[in-house]
Amino acid sequence: MDAWQAPPMTTVKKTLLVVDASARVARSVTRGLTARYVDLWREAHPGGQVIHRDVGIQPPPPLGEAWIEAAYAPAGERTPEMVEALVESEILIREIERADGIVMGVPMYNFGIPSQLKVWFEQIIRVGRTFDFAREDEAHPYRPLLAAKPVVVVTSAGAAGYGPGGRNAAVDFLKPQLHTMLDLIGLPDATWIRVESAGAKDGRYVESLAAAERMVERLAAFPATQS
Ligand SMILES: Cc1cc2nc3c(=O)[nH]c(=O)nc-3n(C[C@H](O)[C@H](O)[C@H](O)COP(=O)(O)O)c2cc1C
Repeated sequence: MDAWQAPPMTTVKKTLLVVDASARVARSVTRGLTARYVDLWREAHPGGQVIHRDVGIQPPPPLGEAWIEAAYAPAGERTPEMVEALVESEILIREIERADGIVMGVPMYNFGIPSQLKVWFEQIIRVGRTFDFAREDEAHPYRPLLAAKPVVVVTSAGAAGYGPGGRNAAVDFLKPQLHTMLDLIGLPDATWIRVESAGAKDGRYVESLAAAERMVERLAAFPATQS
């Protein structure tokens, strides 16, 4: 018999999920940054897989009565029609489950997230699948069901001052809502990258964009640092 042979090296391939929510393709600030992120991530992860979920251009379908009936029926009691009503939801949830890390490009529309992205969340937030209601005696009212993983959120707004203490802080509904929905399903620790003044394109814009680019460069290798 030949001498002992070392088993082949198994390289664990990483998967990145990119969720772009801008309705613009040309000159989108958030798309520019997520694309840069992907380029750098690919360099750091040869052979890694990128799943691109473009909700800005191809939004998931809005929820209808059949979806709601199906989502609230116990999993073991769903009819074939109910299973069918949840197919898109299942595809979107599995993309999150497959990913080692997630990067999201989220423009501010009317002080909140784009409706396209809200529909994505409505499709993936499902009782018994991505979260559960907690028992009365549990401190937190919900129990997340997805495994935690790194999430980077890149946002851009036309105006400035949406951060803590800023003059528009009281009308930033984007970050609280996005954070709450991510937290609900088990993704509580997103890293936030905020570009502001994208309307005026003034010094604040230039500064925040440069800071955002530096953060993207620093973070793009993140799943490599995960065990
Ligand atoms: C429909 C729409 C609504 C917007 N609403 C706001 C807003 O409420 N506050 C704000 O500061 N900027 C607002 N903006 C400006 C965008 O947030 C800004 O242009 C941002 O860069 C868009 O992201 P994107 O460049 O990735 O498309 C809005 C832009 C659009 C198209």
